Amino acid sequence: MIHDRCLNNLENEDLEIRFLLEAIFLKYGYDFRDYSKAHMKRRIMHRLSLSELNSISQMQHQVLYDRVFLETLLNDFSINVTEMFRDPPFYKTFRQEVVPVLKTYPFIKVWHAGCSSGEEVYSMAILLKEEGLYERTQIYATDFNVEVLEKAQQAIYPIDDIKDYTYNYQKSGGLTSFADYYIARYDSVILDHTLKKKIIFADHNLVTDGVFGEMHVIICRNVLIYFNKELQNKVFKLFYESLRNGGFLGVGTKESLRFSDYMEKFDTISENLKIYQKKFEA
Ligand SMILES: C[S@@+](CC[C@H](N)C(=O)[O-])C[C@H]1O[C@@H](n2cnc3c(N)ncnc32)[C@H](O)[C@@H]1O
Repeated sequence: MIHDRCLNNLENEDLEIRFLLEAIFLKYGYDFRDYSKAHMKRRIMHRLSLSELNSISQMQHQVLYDRVFLETLLNDFSINVTEMFRDPPFYKTFRQEVVPVLKTYPFIKVWHAGCSSGEEVYSMAILLKEEGLYERTQIYATDFNVEVLEKAQQAIYPIDDIKDYTYNYQKSGGLTSFADYYIARYDSVILDHTLKKKIIFADHNLVTDGVFGEMHVIICRNVLIYFNKELQNKVFKLFYESLRNGGFLGVGTKESLRFSDYMEKFDTISENLKIYQKKFEA
């Protein structure tokens, strides 16, 4: 007899994926069990097609006994696509709606969660500098992928991307010339080192690590899209608890607080650009 609570509606492949993610969690503490199923399946099948493994079960065996293979999978699971001043209207609205409030504070704490290789963080540093706020700001830039964090700390980017970044910067309401913020070296650009002055980069996992206290701003863009609804709610709780009253939350254009458990606890600054403000609590 098949037990009522068994997972007999799942395909074998889905079961194998669950066992693989459970194994990674139990052995290494990385928790991908509540990432979006479609995303995980795509990434696992992609790795399988590149490897000499015959099945996901073999992949599970491999990851249990081979730490290097774990690193490969972690890189597969974390999509690091990013750019400077990504979605320029987001930065424009941030300047118009959020900056005037930040200007009333003597000290500002900003958390970029899931910062990837740093382009987003340096964009914010430039914006805050132009608005005269950088010197009184502390930025925490976190990601669970240490390889991208190292790149972020270097602040060296391909020169081929600069044309797009310059366009984004102008569209985002940049006040000067983007060329003021880098020097070109062969096929790369090195960002102005003063932009790093107020940034602390740190390894932080949104699924398993704790609160960053008393933030005035949290930016977490294009990360929640890889999480299922339950995990999104868990992370919104983390952000809610990390924000001060009246603190701002910015998420990606394809993400939203709407329909989450936390919608009632925030005012909407722009649903289009996904900027929210934590309501004042007594
Ligand atoms: C697509 S990038 C977004 C980068 C940037 N925020 C942007 O919008 O351009 C997603 C980033 O989220 C990070 N990430 C995914 N899961 C995470 C987790 N559980 N904790 C912290 N960072 C995570 C990935 O490593 C990756 O760098």
